[in-house]
Amino acid sequence: MTRVLGIETSCDETSAAVLDGSGDDVSVRSLVILSQDVHRIFGGVVPEIASRAHLTAIVPVIERAMQESGDRAIDAIAVTNAPGLVGALLVGVSFAKALAFARNIPVIGVHHMEGHLFATALEHRDAVPPFTALLVSGGHTMLLDVEAWGHYRLLGRTRDDAAGEAFDKVAKLLGLPYPGGPHVERLATQRTSGDGRFRFARPMVRRDQAPTDPDFYDVSFSGLKTAVLNAVKTTADVEHDRAAIAGAFQDALIDTLVEKTTRAARQFGRERVVLGGGVACNVTLVRAMQERFEPRGVQVFAPSPRLATDNAAMIARAGLFHLERGEQSSLDLNAFASQPIPGLVAA
Ligand code: KG4
Ligand code: ZN
Repeated sequence: MTRVLGIETSCDETSAAVLDGSGDDVSVRSLVILSQDVHRIFGGVVPEIASRAHLTAIVPVIERAMQESGDRAIDAIAVTNAPGLVGALLVGVSFAKALAFARNIPVIGVHHMEGHLFATALEHRDAVPPFTALLVSGGHTMLLDVEAWGHYRLLGRTRDDAAGEAFDKVAKLLGLPYPGGPHVERLATQRTSGDGRFRFARPMVRRDQAPTDPDFYDVSFSGLKTAVLNAVKTTADVEHDRAAIAGAFQDALIDTLVEKTTRAARQFGRERVVLGGGVACNVTLVRAMQERFEPRGVQVFAPSPRLATDNAAMIARAGLFHLERGEQSSLDLNAFASQPIPGLVAA
């Protein structure tokens, strides 16, 4: 049994968590997430402000996570070291290395997106490989086939905006606050039923696509965002049509994600679909996935909002997997803005 402290500072959440266990039998002992509210004023994350806020928060957040877990000795530290804002990542990485050195315990760098892959397994015992994974966050959109932990086949990704980014930009066009995803979802539910005046094309979804086509699994949301912009510009009464436009945008985005995920699960004969990332908080998306997959005998797993968005428990969980394989980072561990997810197998 290993006790791991996880640290996550890749974007605008300062988070620490303690978990212990072995293999897929893991218990989260504490999870503290401090969201940096300050970025709301700017309508997006300001990197330098994020770094400074992490510096202020990191000690109390880690102390709190340690206290809540019973203050027992930890065996190792897992920290997000890529991808993300380098200045923000460095706060977590520097702290993790200093603590590991002081306590003479191993430190392991974790890829943020691999963390998202593990998040759902913390709550659902069956959300383990083999499965089809759809990771949809503010910075990334990835469709993967996960044959086993550490064996990831990247099938598709976004060619432009990430799914969460599309929600955030559309929210801005509709005059909603940042981050926009939850606001767009709420507005979409206020659409008058049967209001079908707006319908946007499903990007990169055509009947004649084959698995060997480069756009079979990829997604692209910038055209959809432009379609929303045009709708906002041309409608006579934006105030009146906001909910209908938000609903039509969400329909197109969700349909696209459900279709691409279906292709992946069918192609690899998977019986489980695992969702992750902030956009997996979208109840309409999760329901659409369940409606598509459950009649086919495929189970859909989505994390609760606390584990869907950025958190250190998922980082500790992914770190534990690597530690159990005998891996660890050295004290020259660095932070990287982008890096391929480790364990990629050829598509
Ligand atoms: O995973 P996450 O917390 O951070 C990144 O790693 O990017 O994801 C944040 C993203 C934001 O773009 C936010 O608008 C979106 O997740 N999001 C949602 C919902 N809740 C959060 N998007 C759609 N519907 C939601 N309910
Ligand atoms: Zn994330």
